[in-house]
Amino acid sequence: MRNLFILPLLFFLVQTTKQSKDLDWWETTIFYQIYPRSFMDSDGDGIGDLNGITSKLEYLKELGVGATWLSPMFKSPMYDFGYDIADFYDVHDEYGTMEDFEKLIAKANELDIKIVLDFVPNHGSNESVWFEEALRGHEKYFDYFVWEDGVVDENGILRPPNNWNSVFRKSAWEYREEVGKYYLHQFVIGQPDLNYRNPDVVEEMKNVLKFWLDKGVAGFRVDAISHLFEVDKAKFDGMYPDEPLSGNKIEDPESYDYLDHIYTKDQDETYDMVYQWRDIFDEYKAKDGLTRVMMTEVYASPDVTMRYFGDGEREGAQMPFNFVLITDVDGSSSAAEIKYAIDKFLTFKPIDKLANWVAGNHDNSRVASRFSPELVDGINMLVLLLPGVAVTYMGEEIGMVDGYISWEDTVDPSGCNTDDPINYWTASRDPERTPFQWNAQKNAGFSSADKTWLPVADGYETLNVEVQQATERSHINVYKALARLRTEPAFRHGRYESVAFNSDVLAFKRWHNGETYVAVINFRDEVYNLDLTYFENVTGQLEVIVSSVQSPKSSGDVVEADGVQIEARESIVLKVVQ
Ligand code: NOJ
Ligand code: MG
Repeated sequence: MRNLFILPLLFFLVQTTKQSKDLDWWETTIFYQIYPRSFMDSDGDGIGDLNGITSKLEYLKELGVGATWLSPMFKSPMYDFGYDIADFYDVHDEYGTMEDFEKLIAKANELDIKIVLDFVPNHGSNESVWFEEALRGHEKYFDYFVWEDGVVDENGILRPPNNWNSVFRKSAWEYREEVGKYYLHQFVIGQPDLNYRNPDVVEEMKNVLKFWLDKGVAGFRVDAISHLFEVDKAKFDGMYPDEPLSGNKIEDPESYDYLDHIYTKDQDETYDMVYQWRDIFDEYKAKDGLTRVMMTEVYASPDVTMRYFGDGEREGAQMPFNFVLITDVDGSSSAAEIKYAIDKFLTFKPIDKLANWVAGNHDNSRVASRFSPELVDGINMLVLLLPGVAVTYMGEEIGMVDGYISWEDTVDPSGCNTDDPINYWTASRDPERTPFQWNAQKNAGFSSADKTWLPVADGYETLNVEVQQATERSHINVYKALARLRTEPAFRHGRYESVAFNSDVLAFKRWHNGETYVAVINFRDEVYNLDLTYFENVTGQLEVIVSSVQSPKSSGDVVEADGVQIEARESIVLKVVQ
């Protein structure tokens, strides 16, 4: 008789242990992206720096963040604000010294915050020793870059080798008299592409990884990885072929989207390189047990994105960035479109890999501006509560908005290269890079300088950390509540189901071992009455756990599952009362 009770119990226990496998640090954490130039200025020069970051690590801790990835802080002439690296082994002087970096790591270790750096393998700087040596004819360094002869046109004028365009518009080739050749730069002129068909480059860049791993970093975000290889020109009589026209309705032949990048992007060799880097990460893990994480930056179709995870035999990145919340949807999207975008990564990813959620970064307009300020909490709800790893761009926790930057103040090469004082803002990334808004004081508390490198966005007097911390219902407090909730088993291990109740309202359920949560986001101004018993096991009463800033509901309120009134732009997380 007793066995009758014990058997189901045993079965239950086995099931539970099976489902709740131990998760690694990176699988449960929130990665918080810091753009060092704009986070915190410690020395009053109007430019954020490493000591500024160190002084604010406790803030990250309070948010519930366990890791931060820093956009490049390496030595750079700043033509692309640090993505043009002149010395991969050194810290940029405006940002501090190697000692400052070591202090940052030490403080982060004390607080148990992992530091992830930006690895920029595709290109260096035209002001690096490597490039200068190349121009001097030093063979080793000459072969670090991609050189090609120009072609002389019918008027006797020397032209670039082919039609390839830079991501930031205009030819991807730049002539250097010193060597009588053009070099390739898929980004700005100051970012000469490195030559990955040269084993010395492969070796050198592995040394870069090891250098920073030895300093104690917990991984890398890998920049512009799909641009790593160009087609093998040996297959084309030794000349890089023209790229075909994209067929997009684009009139400007100098625009990047004018061409279909079949020879400069997503080449097969790229993935093997990523797997080789992962091997290095795993060697470090074998030594000390700490997993080093790789996040790859690729804006691509799901099948291309998934190749970064590995090929079934070899492992690659743990987190090929999932950009659907940036590229596929915005404030005009219907709930169905948002569900469709969310399901995309979840559908395509290998069954044993984790999803990740990225709603913003330093290259894309902010959530409050792309969706709407009222949807900040709802989007944070998606990022923090959908199954997988959460990635937050600094400032999204308080709902910062894009700053207005005049043409005169524009510094981003992507904006400047438009040569268009009217429409530059469609390409400029300055608006999402404005200084972080700490408080209502001078320069939003970011800097004591008279002028900051980019102006502070309007409205910082009321939209800042200090005000929100002192206000019970604020984005930051919603964010913290979501970060806490995320640690519950239902969100760590639980399953996921979603539905678009109508064109405006998306709901999703997360559940595990008898605990069930439902999150509801209303993307529009219409008010709805929803029957959440649509979801299996969602019946009776539901307790409000988190509610967005403009919600009339408070945590602890109880609603009936079969009739939940959801207000304009309201987002809430409910828990089924046992
Ligand atoms: C992607 C980075 O996020 C962006 O800021 C940069 O301009 C390009 N890669 C080139 O490095
Ligand atoms: Mg400074």
